Amino acid sequence: MRVAVIGTGYVGLVAGTCFADSGNDVVCVDIDGAKIDALRRGEIPIYEPGLEELVERNAAAGRLTFTTRLPDAVSRAEVVFIAVGTPQGDDGSADLQYVLAAARAIGRSLGSYTVVVDKSTVPVGTAKKVREEILSVAPNADFDVVSNPEFMKEGAAIDDFLSPDRVVIGTESQRARDLMAELYAPFTRRSNRILFMDPQSAELTKYAANAMLAARISFMNEMAALCEKVGADVDHVRLGLGSDSRIGLSFLFPGPGFGGSCFPKDIRALYSTARENGLDFNLLGSVDRVNEQQKQLLLRKAIRHFGGNLSGKHFGVWGLAFKPKTDDMRESPSIPLIEGLLGKGATVAAHDPVAHGTAKRIFGDRIGFTDTPYGAVEGADGLFIVTEWNEFRRPDFDRLKGLMKAPVIFDGRNVFDPARMRDRGFVYEGIGRGV
Ligand code: UGA
Repeated sequence: MRVAVIGTGYVGLVAGTCFADSGNDVVCVDIDGAKIDALRRGEIPIYEPGLEELVERNAAAGRLTFTTRLPDAVSRAEVVFIAVGTPQGDDGSADLQYVLAAARAIGRSLGSYTVVVDKSTVPVGTAKKVREEILSVAPNADFDVVSNPEFMKEGAAIDDFLSPDRVVIGTESQRARDLMAELYAPFTRRSNRILFMDPQSAELTKYAANAMLAARISFMNEMAALCEKVGADVDHVRLGLGSDSRIGLSFLFPGPGFGGSCFPKDIRALYSTARENGLDFNLLGSVDRVNEQQKQLLLRKAIRHFGGNLSGKHFGVWGLAFKPKTDDMRESPSIPLIEGLLGKGATVAAHDPVAHGTAKRIFGDRIGFTDTPYGAVEGADGLFIVTEWNEFRRPDFDRLKGLMKAPVIFDGRNVFDPARMRDRGFVYEGIGRGV
């Protein structure tokens, strides 16, 4: 099948590459010429395990090409994916300007019957708007608009795409439905979960999934706070709770607050959709508020530990990205933590296996970056663990203690066992481990 993908961000690049890998002829389009040049040279703008190899293989086979010329890509395509950004607007709603601009550009270039797919996370009603936008520039065009939200996670994007729990296709058109089923057939063989529905339900499903996952995390973060008060261990509670098959064990880890390009933005956009429709989606407001507070928790713990004064103290930070296996720092809890420490007069040395480049754009030379985790704790009054990269899980504790000025660890990811850490001679504070 001939496929065009507009936007080479996370979703567009992974989706385009995976469609090419299943034998389709895919053209990825972006207005950013430098990015397209880099992609043509095989340079991938994001860190995502396995993606570089997959791009290289499919580009070499001639199934995956990159261009800035949208009309060329669209006029020959049977399916066109819109995968451009939907940033958060000033009022929390999703800003659709890039999606609608892409729709107009597509409209001007459509050839014979084409399925136009909303892949970006877009508010309910967007499929309709995209349709109107295309019709405004091409009143006689032969096309259908489909909502096909993406559920991949950064760091596991390729596996998620190739082996999805489900594929959601929102359309009223049988012709579009058949084409989409054919395109996704290689990926839906395992689960056979291709769910057809109307576009509005598909659009809402995406937000509902992210909101539910975010709610689980905020729930666990509040539960963790209660565990600390009553002398319970949230990790036991997590296991006891998640073992109920109705609840399940995923996404029950408390932490320093969820980040990333999706959860914070999407819960605000969903809240805003509810408000526009005269509803106060109270729960979502709380999920967001709890999360914002949670992002201050590690800092609050440190302030308490040091009797309110962090001035002149030096801290190590392990992990800058919002989660492991990515260099993405959007809404990462490391940002408010480090800004807070600097604001209180402390100095910071940080180590992240892949996010130094991203972090330097945020912090410049206001913090130090070290090549190893050990470098970050040299002479430190305390260590913060913000991202649970595997390489932080089994450090040489004696070396750590020897390097630090004081053996104090604030662990935002509950990586270690509190009792064993005390035996090893550390002052150790996790999240929700009150025993
Ligand atoms: C999330 C969803 O998981 C994907 O299904 C969705 O497609 C994507 O958003 C999107 O809308 O594009 P992602 O943002 O890549 O994916 O990352 P997650 O793995 O969901 O993690 C989000 C945040 O939650 C991270 O900061 C993570 O540390 C935190 N988290 C996750 C917890 O604090 N506790 C948990 O138990 C799980």
